[in-house]
Amino acid sequence: MKHQCMIVLDFGGQYSHLIARRVRDLGVYCEVKPYTVPVAQLQTTQPLGIILTGGPNSVYADNAPRCSKEILELGIPVLGICYGAQLMAYLADGGVGAAPVGEYGRVDLNLINEQSPLFAGVTKQSTCWMSHTDSIQRLPAGFEAIAQTPNCPVAAMENKNQKLYAVQFHPEVQHTQFGQMILDNFLKTICGCTGDWRMSGYVERTIAALREKIGTQKVICALSGGVDSTVAAVMLHRAIGKQLTCVFVDHGMLRKNEGDDVERVCRDTFDMNFIRVNAQDVFLNNLRGVIDPEAKRKIIGETFIRVFEQESKKIGKVGFLVQGTIYPDVIESGAGDSAVIKSHHNVGALPDVVDFDEIIEPLRMLFKDEVRRAGIELGIDEALVWRQPFPGPGLAVRILGEITPAKIALLQEADAIFRDEIAIAKMDRAISQYFAVLTNIKSVGVMGDGRTYDATIALRAVTTSDFMTAEFVPIPYEVLAKVSSRIVNEVGGVNRVVYDITAKPPGTIEWE
Ligand code: XMP
Repeated sequence: MKHQCMIVLDFGGQYSHLIARRVRDLGVYCEVKPYTVPVAQLQTTQPLGIILTGGPNSVYADNAPRCSKEILELGIPVLGICYGAQLMAYLADGGVGAAPVGEYGRVDLNLINEQSPLFAGVTKQSTCWMSHTDSIQRLPAGFEAIAQTPNCPVAAMENKNQKLYAVQFHPEVQHTQFGQMILDNFLKTICGCTGDWRMSGYVERTIAALREKIGTQKVICALSGGVDSTVAAVMLHRAIGKQLTCVFVDHGMLRKNEGDDVERVCRDTFDMNFIRVNAQDVFLNNLRGVIDPEAKRKIIGETFIRVFEQESKKIGKVGFLVQGTIYPDVIESGAGDSAVIKSHHNVGALPDVVDFDEIIEPLRMLFKDEVRRAGIELGIDEALVWRQPFPGPGLAVRILGEITPAKIALLQEADAIFRDEIAIAKMDRAISQYFAVLTNIKSVGVMGDGRTYDATIALRAVTTSDFMTAEFVPIPYEVLAKVSSRIVNEVGGVNRVVYDITAKPPGTIEWE
């Protein structure tokens, strides 16, 4: 059965993915498409509604991102948000210009038309979250203003007959008091969505579809040990059991006990065909003497491919290769190409070396926390499912300078202590990513009565919604103090611990 679908048309806004998440949270399946997607292609997904996102441009600028006016004429309800609202006004021949006063942050919202279906259940006065310099200054024909703020006469507008709605504020951010309700009204009342999309149904449907597609063929899965590839492997295993072989290349730079945990789940809990290649020595050998971060990444990526190639040859011809690609990896942003800052290593380079017919990406449509929910549905341990994101090159990107077995062991211990204390402080689910880094700084310290000259561990903890930008987490001093004291006392060779308070940008999340 085909599920109901909403489309989020992305104009490069900071919150485009968040909108999609909110829609899914309200039980409606939703996909993000770049604003350039041809209208005919949009129609093939038969969306029940379209949401136009925010974006950093002015709609009247020469090279502003604009979709075709046809979008408003398909008979499909449309909700414009921020830039999307202005674009709707612009396309429908209204007027948009620089607002006399821009609004940023929490603003009072007053309903003009309380009868609008968009505002069912919303009180006449509430607060919304704004971030705009332009605004709608002349309503297009057929539209009426349905909400205002002290500095924005058209904070929301509707054309009820054509089911076109627009809000200048951001209903998707939590600071908008009735944001979730407004989105829900749009989805359920205006678009007619039933809101019955559930992760469990999705997992079951995907498994059934995979089983049918694969038939009796053999499938190979490259397990990196991370959450995504583990969930993908378990899903495939549920679909086709022993037709699946998982190849787990352990490069020896995983977090403490991680390799064993992954092996335990795959082998013991799920009884998979599971090959663990203990390739630490090969990786360490190839990395000897290398200090340049990009060179390290290249060596690890290439070594990974070679090791995997050797193993996959033993399996012979397979029908499919499974990859743990998730939705943020496949979304093409409306904002255009972005610069490559680091050459990411993941299993993306494998297709060239494996003899197979087709790639399967069972998590392709899921966001990270949906992957976690799918993992729980599939019966994977919570501890494994809730692990932090971990880069393909592992601790290699968190050890500055040359990589040695002693440094890996030292960092594994320090990192485990940090993770332990964050869990004790019950902050583990609220922080997007947190880890320890072994810097290449040595400095003088004093321990007992003696002078030390030891390494500095840096701690990093960030919150982020998309890993493109991030803020450091204000971890309470008591927690930091405990982590620092435990690391210095329990991990030999460390005499100093520092906390990284840099945002991204200008910093990146990893150090390298
Ligand atoms: P940066 O350091 O670029 O990291 O701010 C952004 C996110 O990407 C992760 N990361 C990687 N993930 N392969 C991956 O699969 C890689 O090579 C890689 N390098 C960085 C990083 O942990 C953070 O979540």
